Amino acid sequence: MRRPFAFALAAALVAALAAAASAPSAQSPARPVHDTADGLVLTPPMGWYPWNEFGQEPQNETLIRQIAEAVVKSGMKDAGYAFVGPDEGICFSRGADGRLTSNLDRYPSGLRGLGDYIHGLGLKYALYTDAGTRTCSKAMPGARDHELEDMATFAEWRADYLKIDWCNTEGQDVARSYAKLHNAQLAAGRPIVHSLCSWGDGQPWNWAAAVGHLWRTTGDICGPGKADWAHALRIATFNGTLSEAAGPGHWNDPDMMIVGMSGLSETQNRSFFSLWCMMAAPLMAGNDVRSMTEATIRILTNPEAIAINQDPLGVQGRIVRRDGAVQIWAGKPLFDGSRAVLVFNPGAAAAVVKVAWADAGFSPAEALYIRDLWAARTTGPHGGGLGVAVPADGVAFLRVSKTDQFPLPPVIVASTYRVALRADGAGPAALTAAVRVRTTGSADLDLWKVRPDLPSWLSVTVSKAGKVQTLTNTASVKGLAKGSYHAVVRADNVEPVSKMPTSALYYDVDLEVGGGSPGAPQTGGSGSSSPPSVR
Ligand code: GLA
Repeated sequence: MRRPFAFALAAALVAALAAAASAPSAQSPARPVHDTADGLVLTPPMGWYPWNEFGQEPQNETLIRQIAEAVVKSGMKDAGYAFVGPDEGICFSRGADGRLTSNLDRYPSGLRGLGDYIHGLGLKYALYTDAGTRTCSKAMPGARDHELEDMATFAEWRADYLKIDWCNTEGQDVARSYAKLHNAQLAAGRPIVHSLCSWGDGQPWNWAAAVGHLWRTTGDICGPGKADWAHALRIATFNGTLSEAAGPGHWNDPDMMIVGMSGLSETQNRSFFSLWCMMAAPLMAGNDVRSMTEATIRILTNPEAIAINQDPLGVQGRIVRRDGAVQIWAGKPLFDGSRAVLVFNPGAAAAVVKVAWADAGFSPAEALYIRDLWAARTTGPHGGGLGVAVPADGVAFLRVSKTDQFPLPPVIVASTYRVALRADGAGPAALTAAVRVRTTGSADLDLWKVRPDLPSWLSVTVSKAGKVQTLTNTASVKGLAKGSYHAVVRADNVEPVSKMPTSALYYDVDLEVGGGSPGAPQTGGSGSSSPPSVR
């Protein structure tokens, strides 16, 4: 049975804290080594999820489409936010054949159709399930005892990200249950980010890297529509103790963000966002992005703060020192040799503290440049540390470097994640459509390397003009029988300074070969082509 919200929160936090006390040390040799071969979320996932603002109602296709459009229009997509989709939004039921079927009342295009729409906007598709018998409200079936067929269905719906909740799991072992889902996912064949949501139950930071990409470390950050600043800070403080467990492709998840929800001041929004950036936490916005203020947009899209979160080294910062109520977060080396420092004042009164270079991991004798990430101002060189004034609830979010250059790491933005090609009758022998991929980082990237494992009807070439690369997809139709063809293209790249791999770029290519009367072939990268047969 679903636990009441307040109880679930308290219980999960107490369990997580108790677990942390008895957890093996950070250097525990028992910790599994994460396999990053899938190239997924090598920096923390960024996106939007409905639960914090909306809860279960009114999640439906109209809401999710409007949100996806607002993510694009507000500039969030250009800032790196990509994963969007319903949470526990009464999305599907289980049919008599045991397979999941879309709830067409709420999602008239079907869950595959909604995915195509989201992909066509250049966003990635997030879906939700549960490892138990039912989801938390019991409105949807869970995947228990249906792992293989459900994971196959999520692949057919073209999910890129799957949040897997932990309600109604009586008698189940948490690590085994998620491992079973991971194996079912591998069997289904589509690369999908697994976002484990056991609220810290079973201490996932000790084992989940082997079976997923991120895991919730605590109970829910808030009830729907009820942002809770004090509770968010407790979550941050606990999550901050788990920094050793995080790294490229495997992240501690202190829950979706509450930035921009009612009840938080602009100062609190800025501090919250800084904490999540510093903790290399998933940046899943949870506010109503259709109607946010300019100030909220500026916070959520600050490229210099996002650069700390999306740093290719993937190190999670932690509290290295306290000065009265003030927390000094550091321990976060960055790809260019600079380091991040966050001075956060959760106290009731303004404070002035001195940041020592040793806090940041530099020698006390250095003369260093400071970039203030909220003021977008560089000062220095400074010798011997820096005094900073921090208002109540406020932060100083700094990047410290031996040089006065503060380059941004790559954040990848694509024109579409779905290429849809259609050939009818006697069209040309080959159809082409482009996917344009841009890096918002300071440096140009080398050419994306396309994996050679493409089907024989598809070829992909890559060309480059500065920060924008074009992947041209050519489908050879000649000789192909009538029918639907599908391929997932993967391309890889490397951040040029640190040589750390970027997250792999994946997108779908659909080719529809019709018979019938001769007509011009239609090409296009938008997801608005004919409705898919999979619902
Ligand atoms: C749990 C999760 C939340 C949300 C709800 C849906 O409480 O932790 O994030 O997904 O379930 O019911």
